Amino acid sequence: MTKATTSQPPTATDPPAGTHQHPAFDPALITRVIDAARRAPSLHNTQPWAWRLEPDRLELRADRERQLLVADPDGHSLMISCGAALALAEVAFRSEGWLVCPDRLPNPDDPDLLARFMDPRSHQSTSADGDQLAAAARRFSERRPFPHRDVPGELVEALRACTDGEGVHSHFPVREEEKLNLAVAVSWADRVERSDAAYVAEMTRWVHDTHVHADDVHVDGVPATAIPRVAAGHPRHTDIPLRDFEVGVSGREQIEADVDEHPLIAILLTESDSPREQLAAGEAMMRLMLQAELVGLASCPLSQAVDLLAFRSRVQTLMGWTAYPQMMLRLGYPPLDQPTANRSPRRPVADQLDVIPAAAG
Ligand SMILES: Cc1cc2nc3c(=O)[nH]c(=O)nc-3n(C[C@H](O)[C@H](O)[C@H](O)COP(=O)(O)O)c2cc1C
Repeated sequence: MTKATTSQPPTATDPPAGTHQHPAFDPALITRVIDAARRAPSLHNTQPWAWRLEPDRLELRADRERQLLVADPDGHSLMISCGAALALAEVAFRSEGWLVCPDRLPNPDDPDLLARFMDPRSHQSTSADGDQLAAAARRFSERRPFPHRDVPGELVEALRACTDGEGVHSHFPVREEEKLNLAVAVSWADRVERSDAAYVAEMTRWVHDTHVHADDVHVDGVPATAIPRVAAGHPRHTDIPLRDFEVGVSGREQIEADVDEHPLIAILLTESDSPREQLAAGEAMMRLMLQAELVGLASCPLSQAVDLLAFRSRVQTLMGWTAYPQMMLRLGYPPLDQPTANRSPRRPVADQLDVIPAAAG
């Protein structure tokens, strides 16, 4: 399937007909694109994507071996994570001077082919493109408590505007009753997951305590240093509970006890619960995270209540939404007085990019 952009006239930077390697798909350039895209968030930092570079295209594929069997049996989180990586690849292409719109799920017979970037058009990259790329490199999931400081309405509107896309939009609950219902739904999902030994075992396998095993070098998973340590006997006070990574492993990021936190909550909703819209929700989540970073806000996904299909249906019913909840995030001003939490590692680009060489001649 080809995209509408094929009708664009060739530009001065397009390769002459018959040349095999398009400059937008030069392996060195693509290495930089994937270097940016791999900073995308993913469930337990599984990075469930694989890239394939052909002389005239870049493809994003689902890496099913990295899909979590217990927390993500239907591949929902995989699609969200890959949608985020897809959005970052577009950002990186733009800052490299190329507009390469992805064709999403282009082959119904190959559902793991999530996107195909083809038919690049040259683009005059702007400082906004550079700012987005820098924000992508800076961003990380902030799990520490946010200080008391409300996010102004105009910033919330800017966040809302950047998530709007085909079949996807965001919602920021403000009514106390709605926030309470959401807290109940998330707590319920959290309890169900935590009481499942297989879920806890799987999550624990993806949390690495490099302080304990200093010679253990990980390129995926969540470092214990990125997990807040909640003091015994002092449950964390926050409007919406965070995923409790500490059921299996103790966090290393000691947080102040008894802080009362009221983060801004964002919910990404779609018109259907199809893989296409899950991918779109991942892209919208990434746009939201970049916009948040650009206006000085930190963010963190909260996905217990949307991991499983049964959870998503229950939240949808409880909240009386007609749209389908795909992702939740907490947002707020970062805790400035504390050092930055440890960043989660990423797999080397070479591990996730398969380069198919251009044919000779
Ligand atoms: C689909 C999805 C679900 C996630 N769920 C949670 C969550 O429930 N709680 C949490 O603290 N982080 C969650 N995360 C964040 C990941 O743990 C994080 O992106 C990953 O560890 C990489 O770290 P980074 O975002 O700091 O770069 C989720 C991310 C994605 C994409």
